[in-house]
This record gives sequence, structure tokens and C-alpha cells, in this order.
Amino acid sequence: MKIWKQKNAKSKGKFVTYTVEGISQNCSFLEMLDILNEKLIRDNQEPVSFDHDCREGICGMCGLYINGRPHGPDDAVTTCQLHMRKFKDGDTITVEPWRAKAFPIVKDLVVDRSAFDKIIQEGGYISVNTGGGAEANQILVSKENSDLAMDAATCIGCGACVAACKNASAMLFVSAKISHLGLLPQGTIETKHRVKKMVAKMDTLGFGNCTNTYACEVECPKMIHRSNIARMNRKFLCAKLS
Ligand code: SF4
Ligand code: FES
Repeated sequence: MKIWKQKNAKSKGKFVTYTVEGISQNCSFLEMLDILNEKLIRDNQEPVSFDHDCREGICGMCGLYINGRPHGPDDAVTTCQLHMRKFKDGDTITVEPWRAKAFPIVKDLVVDRSAFDKIIQEGGYISVNTGGGAEANQILVSKENSDLAMDAATCIGCGACVAACKNASAMLFVSAKISHLGLLPQGTIETKHRVKKMVAKMDTLGFGNCTNTYACEVECPKMIHRSNIARMNRKFLCAKLS
């Protein structure tokens, strides 16, 4: 393993080489890192810091850049869903943190993704009273919009789209939120306000612009579609002109 080690955001980092032995093919990538850390602790060495929580592809905490790809060599999975059978015995695996100005390194492989929370605070919610279950069932939602909103809602805020993008753009993430909320009747009302505020915040936090390379879509573990970015751009333009 060649793993990025860095004390804090200000210090200079470097790759450190570790050897991990006796790993089962059925081990997840994070379990393999656990085994490495247990060995390092037993040997009185500092363990490797990495983020994780649910370990089932839901929370978005486990972002790692593995062999040059966000979340590693498998498609449509998070790092915690990646298994060691995707690698060959004797492989050298390179592990780095997300690299983006808006995601400063906290330690080793852990980055601060609170910039995403700040964007959500600007409008990633519905503040109108949507009533109880009965009222919700009386508001008809077309099947097409319901499917599109549900697909966009699967974004887990992992940040792989930012890490994959040469501009460190957060547009796939932000556009997923705009679609998820704005395609539903309850969320449509605040769309103009939401899109203007969230896009402005994204820009001030140092994320880059989209130049249509779509690496974000390729590396997104939830396969969020790039058409969400086009929808966001249309809504942004309408909001600015009205
Ligand atoms: S759009 Fe995909 S890659 Fe980006 S934060 Fe959401 S789930 Fe992660
Ligand atoms: S640890 Fe939650 S998505 Fe991987």
C-alpha cells in the first residue's frame, strides 16, 4: 500500500509504504484498512486516519482516491462497498484523500467536507408546511417527475464528483439537490431562491465551474446523471431573468 500521510491541513504530506498480508478476497477495502491499523497499533506505530460511518453505501463518509479513481476501480460503489477481490495478490494500491481546495485535509485521508453542508444550508431543504400523510397523498406527482426526483435524491454527498473533476466542480452534487427538491410540488415553490443561493454559495466556497467533461457522472457511486446539471443551469438562468 502507498498511503498518503499528512499531519494536518498546513503540514506537508507524503506517501508512506505499508505491506498488508493475509487479506481475504471477501474483505471490504475498509476492513483491509482496519486490519492494517490494528497491526500498526500493535507495533506501536501511528494508524492511518480515514473517514467512515455506515459502511453500507449510504452516508457518503468513506471517500478515498484509490489507484487514481474516486472510490476505487469498481463502478457505482462507494469505498466501503469495494472488495479486495477487485485487486490481485501482490498489487500495489495507492490511496489518497480527495484533492480539492474546498475540501481541506484534516489528517491523512480525512478531508473536511463541511463546504457541502454550507451549500445545503443555503436552500437544500423545503420550508413550506407539507402537511401530514393524507395531504401528501392528495398532491399528485407525475411518475416521470417522481422517478427523476428519486434518482437525484440518491446522492449521498460523498464528494467523489468534486474529486473526479479537473475543476473541482460541485455542480453534480448541487444539481442533484436542486432536482430532488425542485421536481416535487412541495419543493417547486422555493426553486428560484434555492438555485440562486446554492449556486452563489458553491462559487464562494471555491468549487470550480463545469466544463462538460462528465468525469463526475462516471465516478459517482450513485450514478447521478449529468442531465441534472443542465436542469440546474436552466433553472438558474430562469431565476436570474425573472
Ligand atoms: S453527485 Fe454522486 S459523487 Fe457527487 S456527492 Fe452526490 S453521490 Fe457523491
Ligand atoms: S461508510 Fe457510509 S457510504 Fe461508505
